[in-house]
Parts: sequence; C-alpha cells; structure tokens
Amino acid sequence: MSLQTQNTYERIRLTLENEPKTWLITGVAGFIGSNLLETLLLLNQKVVGLDNFATGFQHNLDEVRSLVTPKQWSGFSFIKGDIRNLEDCKAACQEVDYVLHQAALGSVPRSIADPINTNETNISGYLNMLVAARDAKVSSFTYAASSSTYGDHPALPKVEDTIGNPLSPYAVTKYVNELYANVFARTYGFNSIGLRYFNIFGKRQTPDGAYAAVIPKWTAAMINGDDVFINGDGETSRDFNFIDNAVQANILAATAKDDAKNQVYNVAVGGRTTLNQLYEDIQLSLQKNGIKHHKAPIYRDFRVGDVRHSQADVTKAKTLLGYNPEFVIKEGIAIAMPWYINFLK
Ligand SMILES: NC(=O)c1ccc[n+]([C@@H]2O[C@H](COP(=O)([O-])OP(=O)(O)OC[C@H]3O[C@@H](n4cnc5c(N)ncnc54)[C@H](O)[C@@H]3O)[C@@H](O)[C@H]2O)c1
Repeated sequence: MSLQTQNTYERIRLTLENEPKTWLITGVAGFIGSNLLETLLLLNQKVVGLDNFATGFQHNLDEVRSLVTPKQWSGFSFIKGDIRNLEDCKAACQEVDYVLHQAALGSVPRSIADPINTNETNISGYLNMLVAARDAKVSSFTYAASSSTYGDHPALPKVEDTIGNPLSPYAVTKYVNELYANVFARTYGFNSIGLRYFNIFGKRQTPDGAYAAVIPKWTAAMINGDDVFINGDGETSRDFNFIDNAVQANILAATAKDDAKNQVYNVAVGGRTTLNQLYEDIQLSLQKNGIKHHKAPIYRDFRVGDVRHSQADVTKAKTLLGYNPEFVIKEGIAIAMPWYINFLK
C-alpha cells in the first residue's frame, strides 16, 4: 500500500472524527448498508437510515448496535420507509450532508423472475432519491452501481469507459442509474459518484433465500453439510471484493473533491478467482475453523444472464479517489468464515 493512498483514507477518517457529518444510508438494514452504518457510527458520525426490509433484516441493525457504544448508537435514526415513495426519500434527506444510496433489489436471477419490481425499486426509487437529494442540497450523493453494466463486453480487465450490452433486467437498471446521474449533472448541476461494485462479500451478507450470493450460499451449505452446486463448469470467474474495501470506497467517494465527481468507479481488488478456486478457498478456510465438508460439488447448467468473466481495472478509483483495497479475497474469506459459523450455529 502506498503511503499516500493509505494516508488519504486515514486522513479522511480523522477529519470526520473531528468534524462529524450527517449521513443518509438507504438500504441500511442490508449487507453493505449495515456495514457502512457500523463504520460510520464507530467514527462518531450521525447517520439516518432508510429501509423497507424488502431484503434487509432487523437483526443486521441489532448486530451493529451490539458493536458500537450506546452514545454512538444514539447518533443513528432509522426511518422505515420505501424509496419508491418520494415523500419517504424527502424526509430521509433532510439536513443530510452525504448520501450513500444502497437500497435496491439485487440479484440477476431475481430481476429475470420479476423485472417489474426490480425496475420500480432500482430505477423509479433511485430517481426519487436523486430528486430528494438534489432538492435537499446535500453535499454529495454516492450510489451503488454494478459491474453488471459491463454486460457482454469481453475485454478484461474492465475499464470504466468500455461497456457492452446489458445481459439482464438488473443490469439495465444499474446502467440507467448511471445515465440518470449524468443527466442530473448536466441539467441540474447535481453531481454524484457511482461505485460499480464487483461481487462484494463479508459479514451480514445473507446466506438465506433463493437469491443469496455465492459466497454466503456455499459457506452455509458447507457448514450445514449440504450439497454445493456450481453453475456451469466452475471456470466462471469474478473479482471478489471484501466488504471493508467497499466501505472505504464509499467514504472516499462521499468526501471526494469536485473534480472526482460526476464519474463512475470500479470498486474491486483487480484480481480474478474462478468458482472452482473459490470453492477450495472456502472449504480450506472452514477447515481451519474446524469444519470439514467432504461432499464433492455438483456441477449444473450455466445460469442465464451471468457474465462469464469479470475482473476490474481499479486504476481510476486509486488515482482519483485514493482508493486502496486493503484486503484480497483470501484475507476477506478468513475474516468472514468465523462470522458465518457463529451466525449459523
Ligand atoms: N453485494 C454485491 O456484490 C453488489 C454488487 C453490485 C451492486 N450491488 C448493489 O449494492 C447495493 C446494496 O446491495 P447489498 O448486497 O447490500 O444488498 P441487500 O439486499 O443486502 O441490501 C439492499 C437493502 O435495500 C433495501 N431495500 C430494497 N428495496 C427497498 C425499497 N424500495 N425501499 C427501501 N429500502 C429498500 C433492502 O431491504 C435491503 O436492506 C444494491 O444497490 C445492490 O444492487 C451489490
């Protein structure tokens, strides 16, 4: 890690501790939202959270509460509301400095099964948030974009300016977010930053439900002694990124200077791990924690809408935001496994 980039994040955290801000996290009861909440409360920030519990959980908020001091927790106010409702968005944006917009319906297969609900939340809800944040004159607006926007473009690693055609309704919604962000900059001078997350993982990412992400799903299956299914031949690859790196990217983006705004950034590590390798990494990490999974994985059909390979070039985020991913995949898995073992016991 270069001293300069290490210092950017440290310097910003120190400044925030000395001069606390008010943040809005939409999707605060979800995986990424609740991890953002934890970090910001530990930095003594004031946080407003908005969530309708569509895919988030009260137990995520309860866990954060148990990890911060009562005083830090008193800096948090929760609004149970829906981004599809403009009034909820307006109420949430009041007197807020920085918005971290995470609320959305994730998952490619969910969007294929239910494109209408995905569209309403991810596009109409997103637009409500843009309008509410613009009208509240917030200092910055950072939103969760997605690597799915690269679609069918074969180039690796993925560079921000070169995208292909979307492969799923979910990818369409995330791309439309970027288009709206651009248009809001042009027409209203409202600048934002989009963070194109690449397969974020870590504690509080749910292993439950039909649309669970691969790492929590496989981890839970191995802990419970169930079968693990691999879609395709296992050589599909992803740039898996530990949650703490994504939290760092959000804090850097929210506090970025104007010349870094009105842009999208890859948020990843810059590595590439196949599903077969991931399977071994999780199996090994669980073994180190005393859990042995002996069943061989079961290979089945490729999943519709999935990109074959994904790997990010993170130069832009490093250069303009001072982003420096501190954890590679194996380190992230080593940190996440004990959490899942404890969560599932
Ligand atoms: N996890 C990843 O790897 C990944 C990758 C790319 C993009 N993203 C994006 O990051 C964001 C956060 O994802 P996550 O993994 O934490 O998912 P998550 O499902 O854990 O969190 C999403 C949260 O948004 C809330 N929400 C959904 N619809 C809402 C609505 N209408 N009103 C208010 N709240 C609503 C949910 O209840 C949930 O708490 C999403 O925008 C997702 O598309 C995630």
